Amino acid sequence: MRQINVAVIGPGWCGGIRANACAQHALVNELHLAEIRPDRLAEVAAETDPTSTTDNWEEYIADDSIDAVIISTTPENLHYPMTRAALAAGKHVLVEKPIATTMEEADELIAIAEGNNLKFTVGYSQRFKEKFAFVHKAINDGTIGEPVTCLVSRNVTRELGNKITGRTKLSPAAMEATHDLDFLLWCLQPRKPIRVYSQQAGKLFKQKSDTPDHQWIMVTMDDGTTITVGAGWILPLGYKNYSQCWIEVIGTEGALTIDDTHKEVQINRVDNGIQYPMSTMPGEPVDHVFAGPMKVETDRFIEAVALDRPVLVTPGEARLVMDVYVAADLSVERGEPVTLPRNDPTAVAAQ
Ligand SMILES: NC(=O)c1ccc[n+]([C@@H]2O[C@H](COP(=O)([O-])OP(=O)(O)OC[C@H]3O[C@@H](n4cnc5c(N)ncnc54)[C@H](O)[C@@H]3O)[C@@H](O)[C@H]2O)c1
Repeated sequence: MRQINVAVIGPGWCGGIRANACAQHALVNELHLAEIRPDRLAEVAAETDPTSTTDNWEEYIADDSIDAVIISTTPENLHYPMTRAALAAGKHVLVEKPIATTMEEADELIAIAEGNNLKFTVGYSQRFKEKFAFVHKAINDGTIGEPVTCLVSRNVTRELGNKITGRTKLSPAAMEATHDLDFLLWCLQPRKPIRVYSQQAGKLFKQKSDTPDHQWIMVTMDDGTTITVGAGWILPLGYKNYSQCWIEVIGTEGALTIDDTHKEVQINRVDNGIQYPMSTMPGEPVDHVFAGPMKVETDRFIEAVALDRPVLVTPGEARLVMDVYVAADLSVERGEPVTLPRNDPTAVAAQ
């Protein structure tokens, strides 16, 4: 059995989960951690017993014994230069979403990965949840006939909204709806998105910045199926990083309704009222198990590298998601629908 050596760059909230998954995986020999916050580095090192730690991520890029790199840093504009350096050095990469900040950067990364024959995937963790996999299966095995329309509405707490908007200017489409756009585009393959319309609303965060509170995105696919994805980040605090999501898929022969609002487990305490544990997007460790998708997603990446298996989320798919959320933001700006692909003159002519 071939074991691999993995470096996690940026073991904050998500990177900490990734590092713990690596530390527990039988196919990982050495774990290395690069983090610029000494307190956080010490915390994750205590949990994972890494082979080495550093505050200089470039040391691991230069280290030929490291096979794979997981890039979990914020702010998000670090993803491109770090991914580029790792791929150019011949390392397999899992990068958190977004893959990059521009389409040109994404194209360059995909070309380097292909040229060097490397596994390259993007952290669209929701695909690794049982309920979401069930929707994918039910659409693809014909259970509900031909899909007609799909809706995903997601809202997270204002605490998380503050964290995200504090570090980046990216919109709810780019930072949050991106997961659900990826999910629905994956479910509906090989259909392609051809038109995007989007509207934002903002009353709370607008008091302090130009950040919206919520964004709706409507996408038309090339066979006429419609997608509606909503993403907001101003829910009252209820549980740290709480996320609630509701899915409806209507088909010609049936319908799917998925409640992912995490109300099935409640704790009600005198000191802080009702709380919903295990309700964050990546999930959390619970004693000997992990409740949520991020550990299994990390395991799949390790296995793809060590056992030469395909990755589930391809970088080309992540690029298509970026195309859609960039079009959504353009639609907000223009107040009108945007046709995809945006650089295809025949698509404009056909409108
Ligand atoms: N898949 C999901 O469900 C999901 C959920 C939340 C966030 N995310 C994505 O995951 C990524 C991380 O988000 P987070 O909430 O864990 O962020 P975080 O801020 O908690 O962690 C990021 C870490 O990167 C470290 N860092 C920054 N610059 C560095 C450098 N030069 N070298 C080494 N470390 C450095 C920071 O100190 C921090 O600890 C983001 O891209 C975010 O969009 C994904």
